[in-house]
Amino acid sequence: MRQILLLLALLLTLPAMGQNERRTIRSGEIWPDDTGVHINAHGGGIMKYGDTYYWFGEHKSDHTSAALVGVTCYASKDLLNWHNCGVALSVSDEKDSDIERGCVLERPKVIYNPLTKQFCMWFHLELKGKGYNAARYGVAVANRPEGPYRFLYSQRANAGTWPIEFREQELVTIDTLNEANFREQWTPAWLKAVNEGLFVKRDFGTGQMSRDMTLYVDDDGKAYHIFSSEENLTLHIAELTNDYLHHTGRYTRVAPAGHNEAPAIFKHDGTYWMITSGCTGWAPNEARMFSAPSIWGPWTQHPNPCRGPKAELTFGGQSTFILTIDNGQQTAEEGQRSENSPQYIFMADIWRPRHPSDARYIWLPIGFEDGKPVIRWRDEWELFSQKTHI
Ligand code: GAL
Repeated sequence: MRQILLLLALLLTLPAMGQNERRTIRSGEIWPDDTGVHINAHGGGIMKYGDTYYWFGEHKSDHTSAALVGVTCYASKDLLNWHNCGVALSVSDEKDSDIERGCVLERPKVIYNPLTKQFCMWFHLELKGKGYNAARYGVAVANRPEGPYRFLYSQRANAGTWPIEFREQELVTIDTLNEANFREQWTPAWLKAVNEGLFVKRDFGTGQMSRDMTLYVDDDGKAYHIFSSEENLTLHIAELTNDYLHHTGRYTRVAPAGHNEAPAIFKHDGTYWMITSGCTGWAPNEARMFSAPSIWGPWTQHPNPCRGPKAELTFGGQSTFILTIDNGQQTAEEGQRSENSPQYIFMADIWRPRHPSDARYIWLPIGFEDGKPVIRWRDEWELFSQKTHI
């Protein structure tokens, strides 16, 4: 009798065991962490340290997109099953702190600095109660990947420095390049002025605006901060100091007046690829793609890389990060690459502004067609096997 009961108990628990284990990526669905709760790490990015992936993102509340908690961190060895490590960078209860609870703290990214052995977090920051006017970046550091991160400072970018392609003499002498002379926006004259540096010049003294962002560490260890600047009209790529905590002052502009947000970047066979979105707030729009032979450009625009249902709306999402898996593990986009070639995962957010914590994730493998990245929708796919479910 006892044996029968034991057997029954085993049979009953079997389906429960492992029921939480996730084996596939299902974009757009609820993605529970190891506590069974939907992962709350939006506008995020992933850093691999040792054999563990760390996913950092915005903690979103149920009723507001403002930061009430801070940056969250999740850890995983297989990119599928995530352990909730809690809050990596907490907002502050100190009044007038740059990161006071209720500020806007978006798109956090973390990179490891081997020289200082510190984990460096950069994010887009808007001061509490000031809407999106501050347009700053913030920096925080930690000695452990999961934190706690210590907030260092926030500011605008590269004050008192021109982009590398500008010749100072030219700008200083163009005294007509003032907003007062271009009151009507989106006219050819205004676009030309933006292109020529209308806003770069305006913000030269106080620093360039810094909103949607990502970080990129190149093969030579140099790191870059890529962000929407100039009223979200132009992307800037700014080189970081060796400790990854400041800008060096060397920066370039990408697609001036092109209105790009949500930059995500990777490098394949020596070519830099960047995927961005247009500027429609939380509403999805068509992804854009650029490539360059050097991080410093020249950057060339290509057609939308997305394919499948709602491809013209980035499948309902907005880019946030491209993860490079460099250890030869195969993703399901088999057949197009050799065993050890790197794999790239496109990550995007399906925002839910009315219920921000319910925002969903899109993770899709990046393939190549005619030498160009292509992102095909998949309802479900396996990361490390040969099988796909379409
Ligand atoms: C999006 C941006 C998000 C957030 C949002 C606010 O365009 O990518 O990170 O800032 O606007 O409306």
